[in-house]
Amino acid sequence: MSLSFVDRLANADRNHDTFVYIAAVIAAFNGLLFGFDTGVVSGALIYIEQSFGLSTFMEQVVASSVLVGAMVGAMTGGRLADRFGRRRLTLASSVLFFVGSLGMGLSPNLWTLITLRGVTGLGVGVASIIGPLYISEMAPPDVRGSLGFLQQLMVTLGILLAYGINYIFAPQFLGVVGWRWMLGFGAVPAVALGVGMYFLPESPRWLVENDRVDEARDVLSRMRAREDVDEEIEQIEEVSERESEGSATELLEPWIRPALTVGIGLAVLQQISGINTILYYAPTILTNIGLGNVASLFGTVGIGVVNVVMTVVAIYLVDRVGRRPLLLVGVSGMTVMLGILGLGFYLPGLSGIIGYVTLASMILYVAFFAIGLGPVFWLLISEIFPLRLRGSGEGVSSFFNWSANLLVSLTFLSLIQRFGEAIGFWTLGVFSLIAVAFVYFRVPETMGRSLEEIESDLQENTVVGADEKGVEASSQD
Ligand code: BGC
Repeated sequence: MSLSFVDRLANADRNHDTFVYIAAVIAAFNGLLFGFDTGVVSGALIYIEQSFGLSTFMEQVVASSVLVGAMVGAMTGGRLADRFGRRRLTLASSVLFFVGSLGMGLSPNLWTLITLRGVTGLGVGVASIIGPLYISEMAPPDVRGSLGFLQQLMVTLGILLAYGINYIFAPQFLGVVGWRWMLGFGAVPAVALGVGMYFLPESPRWLVENDRVDEARDVLSRMRAREDVDEEIEQIEEVSERESEGSATELLEPWIRPALTVGIGLAVLQQISGINTILYYAPTILTNIGLGNVASLFGTVGIGVVNVVMTVVAIYLVDRVGRRPLLLVGVSGMTVMLGILGLGFYLPGLSGIIGYVTLASMILYVAFFAIGLGPVFWLLISEIFPLRLRGSGEGVSSFFNWSANLLVSLTFLSLIQRFGEAIGFWTLGVFSLIAVAFVYFRVPETMGRSLEEIESDLQENTVVGADEKGVEASSQD
């Protein structure tokens, strides 16, 4: 029977386990930087605007330059990781984060700021792939799912950290230049990632692929009981032989299409169902409800905390109930909550009881995202592609995720300016409903199934009812 991450933590009495967990936590700092650097601008923007006198268009350019950088980073990250190694690429991206953040804090003019946000974005795109990749290659198979969720947990903590830093450096304490400290603070976790990674070894799988088998054996013997090491090296060698036959263009071949459809479909749906508009629109909604500044700050932090807590719940559940149930409950709940949220804005006035129902639906929407589509998307794209195409498959899916993120951030405000909030949130609700159907008909259960079984599920399109198969499979092992 497979043990969950939580069980393993509770029983972590072997040094091997401790080493894997430390390595996973350090690698998950990629997630912290991903969350922090995407989250911090929402609070900083209004002061940047005061410093440089921005038009609405330029505000959007400042906000979204990080997403453009992330698209490029995601697209190239997989191949760079194969060429230079996971460790060296992480070290390089921590330098990008460090230089980008410090430089943003010191920017003499707007274009330097925009360019450096793009540079930081490159790091974010690479981080979105390299964190899960490194963790999945270090983790023993039985806890790969739960350890993989650590990255998303750190994304949510990064967003929460951004809220906190925005509050600490708000102008009431520092004047308008507070934004420089907000953006510059990103250099601190960048150092933590770089220094931590410096002391970690390269992934054993990459070492084997690059004919450094003895080093791979050394690394594995620090993380596994002795008897497991030889067997694992053999498996990696076998897979790596097969892998060398694959190439990125194979992603376009028909047999890979079902996996690619799931990767790209979930990537786009994760964004167009609106998580980032809710996360960053929250303060405005809270103020509209009539909450004062302090109360709406607490409301916003509360939403960030719910995001973190429900991700922890998902870590506990993912190896017990499976991916499909979490996704289906998650996206169904999001759809209902977006319906209510739109209704709150449709009815006249957001005050009184309507205001609080609207607030509750916003918090529950985030809870449903955090238990399903948030973490499960990133996990699935590390599971559904055949091993030899995993890097490229993850890269392409992540690229579509960042592209959809950019699309939403460039259009949502105009949508609500033109048609009002109610139509805006209902539109997100329709996409969320499409996600329910997409998950039901297309997404396979991967819990307790080998990669070969997952591949054939996708080929045969035997997706409906796959949750029962998954549960059977996991209860048998
Ligand atoms: C998404 C991000 C989002 C975050 C919120 C991630 O899974 O990809 O766009 O900001 O979750 O927790």
